[in-house]
Amino acid sequence: MPHLSKALVTGASSGIGRELVRQLVRDRGMTVLATARRGDRLAELAQELPAGRVLILAGDLADPAFRATLWSHAETVLGRVDLLVNNAGVGNYSEFIDQEPAAIAGMLALNLEALLDLTQRAALHMKVRGGGQILQISSVLGFMGMPASAVYTATKHAVNGFTKSLRYELRSTGVRVWAACPGRTESEFRAVALGERAELKRLPRGEPTERVVRSIVRQLDGRSVLFAPTWKSWAVVMLATYAPGLLDWLIGRFAVGSHVHVLRSATPAGAGETPGVSPRRSSTP
Ligand SMILES: NC(=O)c1ccc[n+]([C@@H]2O[C@H](COP(=O)([O-])OP(=O)(O)OC[C@H]3O[C@@H](n4cnc5c(N)ncnc54)[C@H](OP(=O)(O)O)[C@@H]3O)[C@@H](O)[C@H]2O)c1
Repeated sequence: MPHLSKALVTGASSGIGRELVRQLVRDRGMTVLATARRGDRLAELAQELPAGRVLILAGDLADPAFRATLWSHAETVLGRVDLLVNNAGVGNYSEFIDQEPAAIAGMLALNLEALLDLTQRAALHMKVRGGGQILQISSVLGFMGMPASAVYTATKHAVNGFTKSLRYELRSTGVRVWAACPGRTESEFRAVALGERAELKRLPRGEPTERVVRSIVRQLDGRSVLFAPTWKSWAVVMLATYAPGLLDWLIGRFAVGSHVHVLRSATPAGAGETPGVSPRRSSTP
C-alpha cells in the first residue's frame, strides 16, 4: 500500500470529519486540507494541531463552483492528493410524504452530488499519479431501511452501490475506493437532522466518535470495500445480509416507535405545529 501523506477531508468542522483530521495528522503524520462551511471551527482545528499540518478552505459543498475551487486549491496547496475523504453529509428526520423539497435537495446535493463530483476529480488525479485512496463515509443505513430517514437512507444505498461499482473500474490503477459504514455515532448529526425540533429522547446515544474513527483510520491499511467500523455496525450489516427478515421485524418493532411516533408527537422548539409535517405540505385539511 503506497504511503499516504496528503489528504482532503470534507465535513471537518465537527463529528467524524473533525476527529478524522485529528487522527490523520497525529497518528499518521499526514497534512490535511480540511473543509466545511464553518471557517471558525476549521481555524480552531488547525490551531489545535501542529502548525502547517492542517490547511483550511471554508465553503458550501452543495455549490458546484466551490467544489471546483476546492479541488484546484487542493492540487495547488497539497500538490499530490493521496487520500480523499468524502465525509460531509446531512440527514433530515421526517416522514417522506411531508418532507420539505429543500431538505430533500440538500441531502441529494451534499450526500451524493458533491461526493460524486469530488470522487471523479480525485479518481482522475490519482489514476494519473498511479495510486491513492478515496474513502466515502457512508452508513449502516446503506444496507437497510429506516423510517423517517427514507431519502437519507437512499443516498447511503447509492453511495454503497457506487463504491462497489467504481471499484471494478479502478482495478489495476492503484486507486482504492471504499466506504466506511458506521452506525449511530456521537456528532452533531442528530441535532442537524432534527432541525428546530425538540430532542428525541428515545433515540439511543451514538458510539464514541474517537473509537469509530480509530477503526476507520486503521482500515486505511486494509482491503475492505464496505467496512463496518465497530462490532455494533458489523452486527447490523450481518443481520441485513443474512437475516433481513429479522432485521425488518426489529425495525418495525423498535425504530418505527422511536422515530415516527416520537417525531409526530415531539414539540418543535418555539412552535406549536407538528414537526416533520409542514402545514404547506400536510394532506390534512
Ligand atoms: N453520526 C452518525 O450517527 C452517523 C452514522 C453513520 C454515518 N454518518 C455519516 O458520517 C458523516 C459525518 O457526519 P457526522 O455524524 O460527523 O455529522 P456532523 O457532526 O453533523 O458533521 C457533518 C459535517 O458536514 C459538514 N457539512 C454539512 N453541510 C455541508 C455543506 N453544505 N457544505 C460543506 N460541508 C457541510 C458540516 O460542517 P458545516 O456545518 O460547518 O458546513 C460538518 O462538518 C456523514 O456523511 C453522515 O452521513 C453519521
